[in-house]
Amino acid sequence: MTAHTIKKITSLRSLRLTLRFVLPLMIALTLLAYLVVPLVDRLNLRWSVRDLATRSHLIANTLSEPLAELLEQGNKKRINALLSGATQDERLFALGYCDLNGKLLYSSPMYPRSLGCAYPLSAEDESKSLIQLPQGLVHVAAKQLTVGGMPAGALVLVHDMSFVERRSADTRKYIVIFFVVLGLVVSLITVLVAHLSWHGWLNGMRTLLRGESLIKTFTKPVDSELQPLVGDLRWLLRSIDAERRMADDLTITWTPRTLRQLLYEQLAGEQILVVSNREPYIHTQKPSGMSFSRPASGLVTAVEPIVRACSGIWIAHGSGSGDRGMVDGNNHIPVPPGHPEYTLRRIWLSPEEEKGYYYGFANEGLWPLCHIAHVRPIFRTGDWEHYKTVNQRFADAVAEEARRDDPVVLVQDYHFALLPGMLRAALPKATIITFWHIPWPNPESFGICPWREELLRGMLGSTILGFHTPFHCKNFLETVDRYLETRVNHASATIWHGGNLTLVEAYPISIQWPPPWQTTQPSVADCRAQIRQAFTLAPECRIGLGVDRLDYTKGILERLRAVEKMLEVHPDLIGKFSFIQIAAPSRSSLEEYQSFESRVRTLADQINARFGTDRYTPVHLKIEHHQPEDVNRFYRAADVCMVTSLHDGMNLVAKEFIAARDDERGALVLSRFTGAAHELYEALIVNPYHIEQTAEALYSALTMPDFEQQQRMRSMRSMVQNFNVYRWAARMLLDAAQIRQRQKLEARIGGGA
Ligand code: G6P
Repeated sequence: MTAHTIKKITSLRSLRLTLRFVLPLMIALTLLAYLVVPLVDRLNLRWSVRDLATRSHLIANTLSEPLAELLEQGNKKRINALLSGATQDERLFALGYCDLNGKLLYSSPMYPRSLGCAYPLSAEDESKSLIQLPQGLVHVAAKQLTVGGMPAGALVLVHDMSFVERRSADTRKYIVIFFVVLGLVVSLITVLVAHLSWHGWLNGMRTLLRGESLIKTFTKPVDSELQPLVGDLRWLLRSIDAERRMADDLTITWTPRTLRQLLYEQLAGEQILVVSNREPYIHTQKPSGMSFSRPASGLVTAVEPIVRACSGIWIAHGSGSGDRGMVDGNNHIPVPPGHPEYTLRRIWLSPEEEKGYYYGFANEGLWPLCHIAHVRPIFRTGDWEHYKTVNQRFADAVAEEARRDDPVVLVQDYHFALLPGMLRAALPKATIITFWHIPWPNPESFGICPWREELLRGMLGSTILGFHTPFHCKNFLETVDRYLETRVNHASATIWHGGNLTLVEAYPISIQWPPPWQTTQPSVADCRAQIRQAFTLAPECRIGLGVDRLDYTKGILERLRAVEKMLEVHPDLIGKFSFIQIAAPSRSSLEEYQSFESRVRTLADQINARFGTDRYTPVHLKIEHHQPEDVNRFYRAADVCMVTSLHDGMNLVAKEFIAARDDERGALVLSRFTGAAHELYEALIVNPYHIEQTAEALYSALTMPDFEQQQRMRSMRSMVQNFNVYRWAARMLLDAAQIRQRQKLEARIGGGA
């Protein structure tokens, strides 16, 4: 669309709008003028009559005394002179004197003979004071005189009314002029407003197409005292909107098939690339040969079904000892091994890079910074340098893998805060969806990072920035507001920065539904029997379960303390309850993780020493990696699963446990500091820092009647089924598709305007 065409359309629209409004307005004003003129005429006449009645009264009072004297003297000449002299007044047409018999005795020269002495008897009756004579309309008033104390005749005053007609004509003229001017002014304003509105609308459209909200364009800055209130209101509105979106979404059942259909319909032909640090398959060279494993990573669990559905390319760090031997010349390997559905591109990092970027900046800096779990973040300049270098390496790899200039790139997690900005520079047209899998802290906490501005700027290269909960989105918007010079629109949750618009949205992550082992898994009874046997548990022993990476954010110590407290408060359960903690070793090169492991081991030993016997172990600690199918068996065997994170973006263990329980039994104790607690209301929600409360929740879970377990589990299963990982991905991709369409439209409209 050229500028000329847009201008033409604009003026045509303005003209049409103008005519549509102005013509009826002019007609309405003309009709109004027709109604108003007679009304004003009548009013004018009434005012004039009253005016003349007052004048007549005044003149009669002035003349009555000298006239009475002259009448008494019978001085005709002077009486005529008095009457003639008084009619010098411009409006007083004539004067006359009628005797008691109604005979006109004296009169001024212009006195109408046809009137004679037919004057109205009362001044009150205004209507009768107007008399139509051949000369025209006149106003007639009379005043009774007394001569020598005796009632005499009447002084008759005749006023010319032609001035009323002149006055009415003038008024009519002014009214018509007034309405014409009014019509012109209103028309002018209308044209102006129509013109401005059309331009405003056009600009608004362009703004909207850029993804900005109209509210932003038209909202004035709010007084600083009102800011907190406004913030809360916006927050409330966004929560309502999020709930509405969730309810809307319920109409679709999301499966790999519907997700594939969405990709086909909304993003047909678009290339989808995923970037994460952790790879979905790790190859390990063992003396016995090459093997592969799946990492203990919620991120990998969630993202893999999506990449499968869209046959994309996943770019990740090749961290396995056998990884290099498995790739082709482009560092590609088709996965899953044995039945490939997508391509994994491996990136190689030197030990220094891995130390600085992954262990250092990402896991000693950003991880504790965002989790606020009482472990201090450590920031080193050297780590930061590696973090930047590695982010650039991954960004280059994405650009290399991109078949076109506008791929859809899904960037995962805190390892790549800078990558979106780098990618935006390399591929300005790319749609970059960054998902932050861990919590986002409040601005004060984030503010201690020495490179906070750079990190935020990097993230704002994204088209969409996703968090698990609206609360994390709010924290992010406030952080940007605090530390960057940007336009943050809290109402639409968008940020303009460096010519790029980022939508900040909550997308609660989830798991596959149906669970992948649904058809192959052993029965609950079999799983229970297997686990009891493996851990030499008594046949009636109840099983509590914890499944985590061995990470200080997971609240494992607090959980074990709660187990200890429960056995202390409810000794009847000693010997009848064991707690199995599966903990996948994680980031073990870091001192914080090593010391955490030893604290967990020590505490487990203490509890076992306190309550255990030769044949009974209250706490079983399995610090080793388990394959997902094995973990699923534990889920099915457990009576209660404990998720007691001190802070967690979502926590997929909670959802996996629910998905595993097709028998609708088992109870979930869930930390209120997980994203999952915002969705799984039927779990027993606890504050893990409150040991007694958590212990009581564990006891309630173990003693929960079957029926209640069923009700709670059924409801949570339906939630996880509906809000599965396909919906998570679909919502992000749908938003991305919408933004891409807007951008394309904007390019067309904006390009010519
Ligand atoms: C969390 C992070 C993921 C990470 C996972 C495992 O879930 O959000 O990005 O992959 O922990 O941690 P690791 O350091 O072993 O990848």
